[in-house]
Amino acid sequence: MEVIKTAQQLDTQLNALRNKGKRIGFVPTMGALHQGHASLVERSVQENDITVVSVFVNPTQFNDPKDLENYPRTLEADCALLENMKVDFVFAPTAAEMYPEPDTRTFSYPPIDSVMEGPRRPGHFNGVCQVVSKLFDMVRPHRAYFGEKDFQQIAVIRAMVDDLKCDVEICPCPIIREESGLALSSRNTLLTPEERKTAVSISQTLFSSLDFAQQYSVSETHDHVVSTLNAIPGLEVEYFEIVNGKTLQPVSGWEDTDHIVGCITVYCGHRPVRLIDNITYKRA
Ligand code: PAF
Repeated sequence: MEVIKTAQQLDTQLNALRNKGKRIGFVPTMGALHQGHASLVERSVQENDITVVSVFVNPTQFNDPKDLENYPRTLEADCALLENMKVDFVFAPTAAEMYPEPDTRTFSYPPIDSVMEGPRRPGHFNGVCQVVSKLFDMVRPHRAYFGEKDFQQIAVIRAMVDDLKCDVEICPCPIIREESGLALSSRNTLLTPEERKTAVSISQTLFSSLDFAQQYSVSETHDHVVSTLNAIPGLEVEYFEIVNGKTLQPVSGWEDTDHIVGCITVYCGHRPVRLIDNITYKRA
């Protein structure tokens, strides 16, 4: 495994391999890798000849400077994990390498990016599209792997790929959970052991809402999830939206469409840590 810092070095290495007909799989990350990332890497290694993992904490997608400052940075441990997974290249550029000049491009994909995370994290998806489009230009992968925990992010990236006509297959991968049910996230490391126990209620409540949804309406299920979680000290729901899995627009009835997902963001603990999760109610 080789750790590469510049786009030029990456280009030289990957061009040679591309010219030999090798298929390139790409896993973009912001580091602080966990088993969720490992599952994406595993799939890329299985499905491609070459796997590239990027580790870059992208400043343009953080709308809160404190969040950017607190974001865990663990490149050495990340490389140790990837070394054991048959990854070929880790691309770990500096901010100056990624943004030699400020990126003034704007990406806007309503209505997909104007719900849920969109209005609550102004500029977030614009920053995600800026960095992912640059990374796609640098890596030129055949396939790129993203975790379904960031359900809306995948929909926005798909819209960007259509818009920019990027020649890459987007491969969504299922959420990986701790045994407790807590969705794996780099942000979990920011929770105290006590807060971690509290955070387990998020997935527990989502899972128990699957049964609830069999007997109750969309709005009753919504209110049940929100009131259950808000009653737990240390948790505060920012939003819970039950949406069409393709358009991400709220649904009003279970029969509205054949793909329905509940997406949630909850503040947990004293910092607090912003945790996201989702649950599929229906998929054809
Ligand atoms: O999901 C993430 O970790 C980031 O948003 C991504 C896709 C690596 C872009 O910085």
